[in-house]
Amino acid sequence: MTAFNDRFLKACRQEETDRPPVWFMRQAGRYQEKYRAIRKKHTLVEICKIPEVCAEVTLLPIEQFGFDAAIVFSDIMIPLEPMGVDFEYKEGVGPVINNPIKSKKDVENLKDLDFGKDLLYTGESLGILRKALNVPCLGFVGAPFTLASYMLEGGPSKSYIKMKSFMYRETEAWHLLMDKLAKNMAQYLLFQVESGAMAVQIFDSWVGILNREDYREFVLPHMQKMVEEIKSATNVPVVMFGTNSSHLLQDMKTTGADVIGIDWKTDMPSAWKELNYEVAVQGNLDPTLLFADWELIEIRAKKLLDSMPDRPGFIFNLGHGILPKTPEENVRKLVNLVQGRS
Ligand code: CP3
Repeated sequence: MTAFNDRFLKACRQEETDRPPVWFMRQAGRYQEKYRAIRKKHTLVEICKIPEVCAEVTLLPIEQFGFDAAIVFSDIMIPLEPMGVDFEYKEGVGPVINNPIKSKKDVENLKDLDFGKDLLYTGESLGILRKALNVPCLGFVGAPFTLASYMLEGGPSKSYIKMKSFMYRETEAWHLLMDKLAKNMAQYLLFQVESGAMAVQIFDSWVGILNREDYREFVLPHMQKMVEEIKSATNVPVVMFGTNSSHLLQDMKTTGADVIGIDWKTDMPSAWKELNYEVAVQGNLDPTLLFADWELIEIRAKKLLDSMPDRPGFIFNLGHGILPKTPEENVRKLVNLVQGRS
């Protein structure tokens, strides 16, 4: 067996590597023919809950493209089910919640996760992956804010009026909700680490809809506590990612995360400079660039690689999750380019 590829972990810790490690957010999914074949036999939730199938799907992009890190196949909504959130996936829409939160009572009624019985399948999947993989596997959760947005809006939203109304008007209940989510998601990440995850990522996909003032008042204290709780129990790297978050990067750094994910609209070298190079950074090609001709993808990928200062701590990724219908051939070529193969 070849030596364990620890480039990703080293880059997270801002240690020297021979080249930047590369992985893609949501790298296992519908753009892969092999994933679509497995989805014909299993629902999304089944893939998450049957450890052998989950491990098989997680391994697909590693086997196909040779990424430097894996991410356990699951979804940010999965740990909400044992907390009492009733949801389903609507084709082409995303998660829809049947019992959205409307009051403080609803928040109080949320159950705490119990890792004696809840989410054991994720643990089992990570155990299988630890043995099967030659690269580190990330565990992940949705950030409290992004989870709360689904729980309050009932599904994806454009204006986030329901959520922001709750935040501004039911402020005590809002903080209770964020506190419960932060604690439970921190514990879930620690459970994933005990089970085999060697790094963890917090996806705050929708946090960019807040201005800096609201982020500081309604979200940041909970993120700081969440990262503190993780850091007090383990030394695995913590990656913090939000989209449309260029105005929040400085604050996200104060959570104590080791790596900040940079979204595709943000200038990557400027963002790193703004962070004083005190954290590692991950990103940030536009996921839709992968629909361009290879010539353009190559130009832009080389430009990103060349524009990053020659210091340890850069992880090559997309600036948001890879999209369904992305040509697999372009993914293969891009990974090869970053890894120095032709
Ligand atoms: O590579 C991997 O292992 C990917 C695993 C993964 C999934 N969801 C599987 C999934 C991850 C890391 C997620 C995170 C996730 N889920 C986020 C944060 C990241 C982001 O992209 O912002 C969010 C916001 C969700 C919520 C969610 N789940 C949405 C919006 C959707 C619908 C997306 C769509 O395009 O239909 C889902 C469903 C979902 N989760 C799919 C997958 C592969 C859809 C595919 C399917 O039905 O098979």
